[in-house]
Amino acid sequence: MKFGHFDDEHREYVIETPKTPLPWINYLGSKEFFSLISNTCGGYTFYKDAKLLRLTRYRYNDVPMDINGKYFYIKDGDTVWNPGWKPTQTELDEYECRHGIGYSKFKGVKNGVRAESLAFVPVNDNCEVTRLVVTNDSSVTKNISIFSYVEWCLWNADDDSRNFQRNFSTGEVEVKGSTIYHKTEYRERRNHYAIYSVNAPITAFDTARDSFLGLYHYAADPEAVFNGKLTNSMASGWSPIAAHQLDVTLQPGESKSYVFVLGYIENPVEDKWESHNVINKKPAEAMLAKYDTDAKVDAAFAELNEQWDKLLNIYTVDSSNDKVNRMVNIWNQYQCMVTFNMSRSASYYESGIGRGMGFRDSCQDLLGFVHLIPDRARERIIDIASTQFQDGRAYHQYQPLTKKGNSDIGSGFGDDPLWLIAGTSAYIRETGDATILDEMVPFDNDMSVAETLMEHLRRSFGYVDTHRGPHNLPLIGRADWNDCLNLNCHSVQPGESFQTFGPSEGPVAESVFIGGMFVKYGNEYADLCDLKGLTDEAAKVRKSVAEMNDILLDSNAGWDGEWFVRAYDSYGNKVGGNECEEGKIFIEPQGFCVLAGVGVESGQAQQALDSVKKHLDTKYGVMILQPAYTVYHEELGEVSSYPPGYKENAGIFCHNNPWVSIAETVIGRGDRAFEVYKKTCPAYTEEISEIHRTEPYIYCQMVAGADAKFHGEGKNSWLTGTAAWTFVNISQYILGVYPTLNGLSVDPCVPADFGDFSVKRVYRGVEYDISVKQNGVQKGVKELIVDGVKVEGTVIPYDASRKTVKVEVVMG
Ligand code: BGC
Repeated sequence: MKFGHFDDEHREYVIETPKTPLPWINYLGSKEFFSLISNTCGGYTFYKDAKLLRLTRYRYNDVPMDINGKYFYIKDGDTVWNPGWKPTQTELDEYECRHGIGYSKFKGVKNGVRAESLAFVPVNDNCEVTRLVVTNDSSVTKNISIFSYVEWCLWNADDDSRNFQRNFSTGEVEVKGSTIYHKTEYRERRNHYAIYSVNAPITAFDTARDSFLGLYHYAADPEAVFNGKLTNSMASGWSPIAAHQLDVTLQPGESKSYVFVLGYIENPVEDKWESHNVINKKPAEAMLAKYDTDAKVDAAFAELNEQWDKLLNIYTVDSSNDKVNRMVNIWNQYQCMVTFNMSRSASYYESGIGRGMGFRDSCQDLLGFVHLIPDRARERIIDIASTQFQDGRAYHQYQPLTKKGNSDIGSGFGDDPLWLIAGTSAYIRETGDATILDEMVPFDNDMSVAETLMEHLRRSFGYVDTHRGPHNLPLIGRADWNDCLNLNCHSVQPGESFQTFGPSEGPVAESVFIGGMFVKYGNEYADLCDLKGLTDEAAKVRKSVAEMNDILLDSNAGWDGEWFVRAYDSYGNKVGGNECEEGKIFIEPQGFCVLAGVGVESGQAQQALDSVKKHLDTKYGVMILQPAYTVYHEELGEVSSYPPGYKENAGIFCHNNPWVSIAETVIGRGDRAFEVYKKTCPAYTEEISEIHRTEPYIYCQMVAGADAKFHGEGKNSWLTGTAAWTFVNISQYILGVYPTLNGLSVDPCVPADFGDFSVKRVYRGVEYDISVKQNGVQKGVKELIVDGVKVEGTVIPYDASRKTVKVEVVMG
């Protein structure tokens, strides 16, 4: 069952009812100012950092209720309604929400009044602009009142959510004309304030929540709105808000348009005040002047759309499969950009006060956006590497505002160092810019111990190479990609964090998965050594990699008989082997070892993937492990803490489904690669939205596995490495347009019935127009013709002097 439909021409998902199974959200903003906006106008707003500079308040544990946002109320006689249905939930005569690329549009109709809004964050400003147009479609004159409402957060969202003994006494505001200024803590150490304004004279306002809502009322029934009269309250402590009232008369057929701006302003310390305790409003007024007419809003909106046109023209596919076209050309890339901006920090499932930018997460996200914004990817790599420790290990996360690493969610995860190689290699393969390797980059943000980025990578590789366990496999440390495989933790007290409790190191527990990564990224590191002319080092690295390859295939180490072992615990026992009663087979090493090329020659790769199909496959995707753990294993940690079928305990963890699909392309099985791709692909799962429940236009982190009560139900939408890995899978492996250090390679692996297709790819300043004749073949390039000339192999020789290149690929 669907709750809306795709409008590919406008790059929108059109939600036809506000009663979606969960809040279906969108992200506004692309640089520093961000808003989350749900299909019923819920959401929250922040500047740069969702924890430290939060503008509007989120009510935690809010899924599915979704009860705080940026709301407009319309009072028409005795009826009060919202264009996005919430919070009053007054039944609408018509409703529509269009989530687009960096904007959302709403239409609500009630009793002959139509309210249409458009919300977006302009490309170069720290504000959210919402244009609200009200139209009288009835045959009588309408006298209505429009009310706006946002609830301020007192900046530090974490403190705001718990330090009430202080915070109930700090709130301060100013009001001038139609602008409400939120200036809590501005009198002391903050040099920033927030504004909420409308480009028309207002009848009244409220800035104190109690006055607006009334005692014992909620946003669903604000007393002042129902009374038809805001009270001009001035907040003093408690909870400052911003609400405007506009009284509007509309003749039949008449429309009126209003522009609301919610903004963030910073003043220089020496220029904070206009007069004693009165804030300097000049920069706010300048910002508001930029959006005070419809024409200016149209221009800013056009600029946003042009920016996206440019970005989304870098990789486009034209195939006979609409769903693939839609995901590749629009939604998958859009989600990659959102993960660039948010990492795992702010969504409806990530509160914005918990996690910052993940080391591993950000390196992987980069794989999905590096082609879109290479300069910012470069900066991101340097930021991430700057938090690395001198021995090659890493903090697991850093705070976006300070860019400093912290151990709040642990450190010492055995896989982290290798992801830095993954991200850097992807950047250089995309851009050809090897100068990044010569950048001086600090360790733990200390410039006095800076080394080149190449040295950072050397230490990344070196750390894993020199930290091995009894089977010569890499030590797992705190955990590896699977944050919940905590083999050194041994926690038995409730409430202890599996990621921060106990030692982060142990001399025994090993990860086969990291072994697979070591092969994949060791090879990529060796290629970078070659690129730098370090041939001896390259040879040494390749030797280590070859040894690891053998260890992984050895039935006394990495190989279990029909699949790859997952790990060895701190007692040296197998995790993910046939001898285990539960957790016999895990997805991660099967996908990653094979995508790294391990076992392709010996046939073990195919055997491992056949085992995945046999033991882990479901109609909704491939599960992370089987059989699920039914009891808690202190020696395994969090993985066994979840009820069977959820999260890392036998859920369908979407992130590693593309690893399996890529692995299938490595052994040439296009039919199966695509089958795996389809199972978690939003454009396909849209049809089962009542089961899947999360947004049908983007990936979620986890779908409940076969053991779970709600098998097929998605959770944790938006901020997941699934976006990047799926884009890598479909664009680079299935459609097969893969950036190498020397140029673009074209080597598709598609289902037999996929048909011919073409890809447009802008790469290092050259536009490649690639058309593929498939000939019913799953993999194999018979002919590669570049501008009419036949070329050997699959790599198009890079020639910067050509601005457009025509490429014909004949499979066979
Ligand atoms: C984390 C990832 C981790 C994954 C699997 C996600 O929540 O962001 O870093 O790899 O879970 O445990």
